[in-house]
Amino acid sequence: MSTQTPGDAQDLLREAQEIAQLGNTEFFVPDNGVNYWSPQVYRILGIDPSVPPSHFRVFEGVHPEDRDRCLLAWSRAIRGTGRLELSYRFVRGDGTVRHIEARYRLSRAPGNSLRAVGTLHDVTERKTAEEAARRAQSRLADVGRLATLGEIATGISHELNQPLAAIANYARACERLLDAPRPDVPEIKNALADIAAQAIRAGEIIHRLRGMVRHREMHRTVVAANDLVRDVMTLLEMDARASRSALRLELAPDLPLVLVDGVQIQQVIVNLVHNAAEALMSTGATGGEIVIRTARTPGGHVEVSVTDNGPGLEPGAAARVFEPFFTTKEEGTGLGLAISRSILEGHRSQLAHEPATPQGARFLFTLPAAPELS
Ligand SMILES: Nc1ncnc2c1ncn2[C@@H]1O[C@H](COP(=O)(O)OP(=O)(O)OP(=O)(O)O)[C@@H](O)[C@H]1O
Ligand SMILES: [Mg+2]
Repeated sequence: MSTQTPGDAQDLLREAQEIAQLGNTEFFVPDNGVNYWSPQVYRILGIDPSVPPSHFRVFEGVHPEDRDRCLLAWSRAIRGTGRLELSYRFVRGDGTVRHIEARYRLSRAPGNSLRAVGTLHDVTERKTAEEAARRAQSRLADVGRLATLGEIATGISHELNQPLAAIANYARACERLLDAPRPDVPEIKNALADIAAQAIRAGEIIHRLRGMVRHREMHRTVVAANDLVRDVMTLLEMDARASRSALRLELAPDLPLVLVDGVQIQQVIVNLVHNAAEALMSTGATGGEIVIRTARTPGGHVEVSVTDNGPGLEPGAAARVFEPFFTTKEEGTGLGLAISRSILEGHRSQLAHEPATPQGARFLFTLPAAPELS
């Protein structure tokens, strides 16, 4: 049998709010001085209960990076009625930050003012847990990459053995040539040049592998995909010039911003254009063209593609191009696409390829749009 009095109900409500970390509030726009904060609102915001409740006091404490977004949402909301949901960080007087989810119901009040009734929910613990889960997941993704590196390591000795054996051969040839009564200097020079070239090749393999193995923290920022492309144009144009092909940009306007590690994505683009240029160069034909295209996907993300009108993938190569050390080039290391794929996997994205029409190859991937700021 319940013997509660209204006073007890108030206590119960207060206790429930404490458990749920949820406070409730009422205020008017324009401010008529009639505002209400439940005790839990004071506790969430870390404000002394003697301070009169004021909506502006909440705004003052909203994290500077979230303030414009909140103001914009409010200024839109107060023109009408209905609901408003906001999520923001609140900086308490002592500098600690709380993650708040606020919900309001807006209605017209006498004198053409607006009445807002709402709740403030402190979701800091949930956000922190989510963040920890996300970090753990990204560490897991790194571990996954290291597993592929394990496979790579087995290929490494094989790969390095080739240039090292060549270097040893050329060096022995040099010795023999120098032992001759009248050493053939041009021939020795040739052998030395070959040694240098092979050493550079070995160094390149090591360098690229190191870049892959190094545990590099991702530096994700919100950027425009088109800017990422434009910023590496000088580099890409060098590739195009070397292959006597034209480089064309088809960058869609009004794309959503993306949340990526810009440097890594640029490395992918450079690798793809490099491959396209090499494919075009291999034919020696004129009229080669490389097109970098950006487009909005139906899901609201950004698709980037690199298309060439070269010979296309060699028969049988299609299934193997992402394998580390798979190459059809004399001077290739076969790492460009493997690295690009692992970078994109780090972005929860995939690298795909398809034949281009009427001829050539097209490589494409999708970059995740940055979450909307409202
Ligand atoms: N645009 C393209 N057209 C035709 N074949 C391509 C194209 N891009 C890649 N390939 C094929 O995929 C293979 C693997 O490419 P990948 O970039 O991984 O290595 P690579 O270019 O051979 O060497 P590197 O490590 O120097 O980049 C290439 O050797 C080539 O056979
Ligand atoms: Mg390559």
